Amino acid sequence: LIIVMDFGGQYNQLIARRIRDLGVYSELFPNTLTAEQIKEKNPKGIIFSGGPNSVYDEGAPLCDPAIFDLDIPILGICYGLQLISKHYGSTVERATHREYGKAEITANTENPLFKGLPEQQTVWMSHGDRVKTLPEGFVIEASSESCPVAAMANTVKNVYAVQFHPEVRHSVHGNELLSNFVFGICGAEKSWSMEHFIEEQVEKIRATVGDQKVLCALSGGVDSSVAAVLVHKAIGDQLTCIFVDHGLLRKGEAEGVVDTFKNHFHMNFIHVDAKKRFLDKLEGVSDPERKRKIIGNEFIYLFQDEANKLEDISYLVQGTLYTDVVESGAGGSSQNIKSHHNVGGLPEDMTFKLIEPLNTLFKDEVRQLGTELGLSDEVVWRQPFPGPGLGIRVLGAISEDKLEIVRESDAILREEVKKAGLDRDIWQYFTVLPNIQSVGVMGDGRTYDHCIAIRAVTSIDGMTSDWARIPWDVLEKISTRIVNEVEHVNRIVYDVTSKPPATIEWE
Ligand code: XMP
Repeated sequence: LIIVMDFGGQYNQLIARRIRDLGVYSELFPNTLTAEQIKEKNPKGIIFSGGPNSVYDEGAPLCDPAIFDLDIPILGICYGLQLISKHYGSTVERATHREYGKAEITANTENPLFKGLPEQQTVWMSHGDRVKTLPEGFVIEASSESCPVAAMANTVKNVYAVQFHPEVRHSVHGNELLSNFVFGICGAEKSWSMEHFIEEQVEKIRATVGDQKVLCALSGGVDSSVAAVLVHKAIGDQLTCIFVDHGLLRKGEAEGVVDTFKNHFHMNFIHVDAKKRFLDKLEGVSDPERKRKIIGNEFIYLFQDEANKLEDISYLVQGTLYTDVVESGAGGSSQNIKSHHNVGGLPEDMTFKLIEPLNTLFKDEVRQLGTELGLSDEVVWRQPFPGPGLGIRVLGAISEDKLEIVRESDAILREEVKKAGLDRDIWQYFTVLPNIQSVGVMGDGRTYDHCIAIRAVTSIDGMTSDWARIPWDVLEKISTRIVNEVEHVNRIVYDVTSKPPATIEWE
């Protein structure tokens, strides 16, 4: 175990993740972790993370000073370096100009931290403070033009510190530096893998749950699917999954969910087929926000209704990822553009305890985990899909006929994007029925039929996006196939707006 102590920096979870990628288990802990608690965990090394504060700010996060006497190797990163400097009695000052972005450093490759790395290297700096005088016993191990103490070390005490961020990809040799710390300095051994994570989580879930019962709301999405399979592996029939099928999923999806969880994994599986109910509730409703509210509320109502029929449920499984934790923490003041509905979201007045086995993982780790657990590529590589489903991809009032047009055209789009080998590069790609009819000519006759819009975007997190440059010939094939194969469509348009100013979905 390598402990990463959290001082509030934005890349902190990334540090733990990079170390796990090296094959050594690492976890982020709050900065209030005491020396005593650390000793109990018996880590091979400790990393002090970055953070937004200055160590001299009032209320700046500090750590238990006894940590420095544990005789466990320490690496300070950015704020961590300043914390170490302060502890050993040197002064930190505001840099004359703050340093953000790439910087060139010259490093001492004799030092174990830089062993085997080039003397000159590009690193990623992001800091406002810098060390003015070296603490006693420390030596400068790297410097850049504007940052004389880019790295320092006290090899006797086994304390190392860097001002830059080795965990960020822009630090070209960052991974090797972390590897030097973890293996060379801490003497850790490669023992962590997804298999290992599964074993550990299975044990943890069993210990938490005991012989109590657990519930999971399945949506067919990656996160809830992987969480369900993991928990099922741990406690088998003590888990019950509820799948509320609102009839607004894409072609073949509901069948896929049933097949995967009921037939393949043999889970206790409740399929609530509520297609008709949702369609009835949505009849004649054209306002996007009202549609979202109806779908969200109805979903919760049906889920709750099923859950109430079960007895003695104590826990609810949620597929919360690390990034969800961050976003919900940081998103408090952001404006509500659309009322998002998450299938599997916790009904407010339900009093379950939560099991969130994925909350230290990033999306790509969850995909890897899903594959390891035996989930198919279709589930593991499913693109993000909104809770209200096709309900917000048929603009205006919804009808079964219109849903069918979107479902069929979307299936063709997905097939062709996959055939072209673009499916893992494009963040999301789908069709929308704008609810516009226009004139066309087919055979010798006039048509007056629907238009389908193709939306395909690239994005990192869905917060911003750009329209995907799908090659013309692929678009041509998609367009031809949709008009030929989907009834009542005579025109195809391609959405070439980024977000902002547009959003990814049309409603
Ligand atoms: P927008 O349309 O807001 O979408 O640019 C950003 C991302 O969020 C997805 N989305 C949703 N996801 N519940 C969800 O779980 C929702 O209600 C919802 N609405 C939009 C959208 O597909 C895109 O990935």
